[in-house]
Amino acid sequence: MIKSMRRPAPFIQRRHLAAMLVAAFFTLASTAPAFAKAPITLRAAADHTVQIGTAIGLPQLDNDPTYRALAGSQFNSVTPENAMKWDAIEPQRGVYTYAAADEIVAFARAHDQQVHGHTLVWHNQLPSWLTGGTFTAAELRAILRQHIISEVSHFRGKIYAWDVVNEPFNEDGTYRQTMWFQALGPSYIADALRWAHQADPQAKLYINDYNIEGINPKSTAMYNLVKSLRAQGVPVSGVGIQGHLGTQYGFPGDIAQNIQRFTHRLGVQVGITELDVRSILPVDATKLATQTDYYNRVVEACLADARCVNITVWGFTDKYSWVPSVFAGQGAADIYDENYVAKPAYFAILRDLLAARGH
Ligand code: XIL
Repeated sequence: MIKSMRRPAPFIQRRHLAAMLVAAFFTLASTAPAFAKAPITLRAAADHTVQIGTAIGLPQLDNDPTYRALAGSQFNSVTPENAMKWDAIEPQRGVYTYAAADEIVAFARAHDQQVHGHTLVWHNQLPSWLTGGTFTAAELRAILRQHIISEVSHFRGKIYAWDVVNEPFNEDGTYRQTMWFQALGPSYIADALRWAHQADPQAKLYINDYNIEGINPKSTAMYNLVKSLRAQGVPVSGVGIQGHLGTQYGFPGDIAQNIQRFTHRLGVQVGITELDVRSILPVDATKLATQTDYYNRVVEACLADARCVNITVWGFTDKYSWVPSVFAGQGAADIYDENYVAKPAYFAILRDLLAARGH
């Protein structure tokens, strides 16, 4: 069965209810300055049918009350944007600094939110003692093991899912030549998953990558990897589809089929882990409409599959988006603008969540 139990034949009354709720929200939203006080939130609309998440950045969580209010009120899942990466957690060898990540976990707990841990093994945001050091393969393996076991143990019981391995593939589906791959070969992936599982047996363990929204060589490499890991009994429970899209690139129209090959054929979960839709600046009405359409289609594809359990936006406001600093001349990727005005994409997601709720 392609469609999940979440979306049986729509009932007219429920549809009318959803339309009325959205209409009421539009009316209130256009008159109320503070969106934090809006009567309907994304998380209320989701009503536990799916985790609706955001990346959370510090110091904006500490210094921007509107950011904090929306982060707490609109989402039921959070992913630390940087605070759980290696350079933040182990800046010196064997010296672990958990304060920032702990603060986000405490925020999540206070707001009844799940935490998506990000990330244990990656090629970016590594500390200089690691990138600048000279290690044998055996030493690197021991360093990786130690880091994973320490970090996962610290957060044991508090993390719904970990991005254990982030961005292991090149666009053509070959393995990315990271320091981990070069020293250890592809076995670093199975090792990392096993160590994470040992340290927190309850946590879901994900492999996460970008440009794997549609069916292409990279997503097929992910598919083959997860299939082979499952066949070997390696504890992998999910695939993270980052979802960094751009209005200039077109939409991966086969995203639903791609999600379903993971959930149906391999039996793993899928999460949309880092959704945003950027544009070449300045934006105009056409780009905004395309952005809304892309957000809508990703969310619909996830909601159509009961095992697509999480939709996380990579930041919710353009005020702090990672996009302009990484992609020159691009931006406006998020569901709120830099003044916290909700965009049409926000309302499209709200509408999708309302339409799927209760099933
Ligand atoms: C980004 C953060 O958003 C930035 O603040 C940071 O400077 C660089 O990393 N894929 C990932 C994320 O898996 O960790 C990246 O986050 C965005 C791309």
